[in-house]
Amino acid sequence: MRRSRPFPDWLPAVGLVLCLVQSALATALTNSSRLESILDKYRHQDEKWWKARSRGRRAISEGDKHLILEMHNKLRGQVYPPASNMEHMVWDYELERSAEHWAHTCRWEHGPSHMLTQIGQNLGAHWGRDRPPTYHVQAWYDEVRYYSYPYSQECNPHCPFRCSGPVCTHYTQLVWATSNRIGCAINICYNMNVWGMIWAKAVYLVCNYSPPGNWWGHAPYKYGSPCSACPASYAGGCRNNLCYKDGGMDWRPAPEIEETNYIEPDPEPVRDREPQSRAQAPNPSSNDNGERNQVTSTDQMSQQVECETKLRDRCKGTTCNRYECPPGCLERPGRVVGTDYYDMQSSVCGAALHAGVIDNDGGWLDVTRLGRKQYFTKSYKNGVQSFGKNRSANSFKVKSVPVKAVRCDTTVSLFCPFKKPVRHCPRLYCPRSCLHDGQARVFGTNYYSDKSSICKAAIHAGVIQNESGGYLDVMPVDKRQQYSGSHQNGVSSESIPNPTGGKAFKVFAVI
Ligand SMILES: *[C@@H]1O[C@H](CO)[C@@H](O)[C@H](O)[C@H]1NC(C)=O
Ligand SMILES: *[C@@H]1O[C@H](CO)[C@@H](O)[C@H](O)[C@H]1NC(C)=O
Ligand SMILES: *[C@@H]1O[C@H](CO)[C@@H](O)[C@H](O)[C@H]1NC(C)=O
Repeated sequence: MRRSRPFPDWLPAVGLVLCLVQSALATALTNSSRLESILDKYRHQDEKWWKARSRGRRAISEGDKHLILEMHNKLRGQVYPPASNMEHMVWDYELERSAEHWAHTCRWEHGPSHMLTQIGQNLGAHWGRDRPPTYHVQAWYDEVRYYSYPYSQECNPHCPFRCSGPVCTHYTQLVWATSNRIGCAINICYNMNVWGMIWAKAVYLVCNYSPPGNWWGHAPYKYGSPCSACPASYAGGCRNNLCYKDGGMDWRPAPEIEETNYIEPDPEPVRDREPQSRAQAPNPSSNDNGERNQVTSTDQMSQQVECETKLRDRCKGTTCNRYECPPGCLERPGRVVGTDYYDMQSSVCGAALHAGVIDNDGGWLDVTRLGRKQYFTKSYKNGVQSFGKNRSANSFKVKSVPVKAVRCDTTVSLFCPFKKPVRHCPRLYCPRSCLHDGQARVFGTNYYSDKSSICKAAIHAGVIQNESGGYLDVMPVDKRQQYSGSHQNGVSSESIPNPTGGKAFKVFAVI
């Protein structure tokens, strides 16, 4: 096979964002029931993780190694479409050592540069709540949503929002058939610079792979029945869908390693935050520049659903109106009942395909509930056959998500004030440099008064950055009892102790 150069997943920032952002939302996976059962197993082990970890002294514990390796092999054995040449992965101490070396630099980039032609590398970092390493492995795997076999360099980004770079190269490295060795390391990094944000205490995971994957123009693996195309060196060995060397060891013998003199600092007490909130603020006291109070939020408003997810099953809350469908739903659109308006029992993505709101590339849609309808008509549209029904049932309609550019001083009260029943606010695009708009004021924290500048509130919340501007979702909500000000990301928001009138809103990241 002609080997061209590996394509760099370290260039586009957007690609890496996904390994920072651990999706706690349900993710739309090729076969989630299967993945769920795998992950369930790890979830239990994860609870023990931090305890074990605080006892350990090395950069990576035996337990973590096992978890990471085992999870890789599990996921590799269950790719879809199935792989005919996927090789069983083993731990490699040389790779572990190089990963450890790099993790200790605390640099949020791939490296060292002289090795990057010989190894593949996946990085993950998080801060705030402690998370087990398998969390990142899962996030890498979850990029499968943006991937359609076999095009590894075309991750099917959702344009125009995700056009800036591939977002599946962590996934393709993870399932690269010939990458049969792995070695990872974890390090705690203080004041780590992650794209200009200073993280007071980051947990940095580096995984190195060999041979490297992600070659331009090549699929990560060959499609076919498992083990039907294993390299001759495996002599026909097969285990759990992976080419496996009989009597082969999971662990290449450890060279004599001197005990590293790296002693892991005592973990700080785990800060308890709202379970869904992934906004993570560094501890100001341990930050050289406590005044900055950097905050990032990756919470998303849109619900990530699977192709067949029924609207009724997904969420009953009134705020649950924006959805993101994965690519490939034409093959399994689920059951769709109705035309123009659909029975609540219908699949969300199937209805969106039928209505022509999304295509087989997936994408976003808004749902409006319409109440009871007496009947539903069947039709064949856009590749989806819908069913009819004569009984009355609750219904909904789907629309594409409009996008509107706003100004730095645009407020929710002007643009899309809260109303009952819930209405949609378009997805918004903020210009850059809104920090410098002196007219634009912000009231509140987390929940903002609807008199606030949307864009500046979004900077305050860490949903967009002043330097780049960007997309965000706004959820108008009913009025709050009070709004409390705070200083975050260079924005000082104001307090309103006794608001008279006016509604509120929350801002969400679009990633
Ligand atoms: C998904 O996994 C489940 C459980 O392993 C299996 O029964 C089902 O057939 C799989 N579905 C697809 C589409 O592969
Ligand atoms: C539904 O109603 C229409 C007209 O009232 C009728 O022609 C049709 O047979 C009914 N379909 C079913 C499945 O009952
Ligand atoms: C805000 O972003 C602009 C670039 O768009 C930059 O010139 C300016 O320095 C930034 N302001 C702050 C306070 O970071």
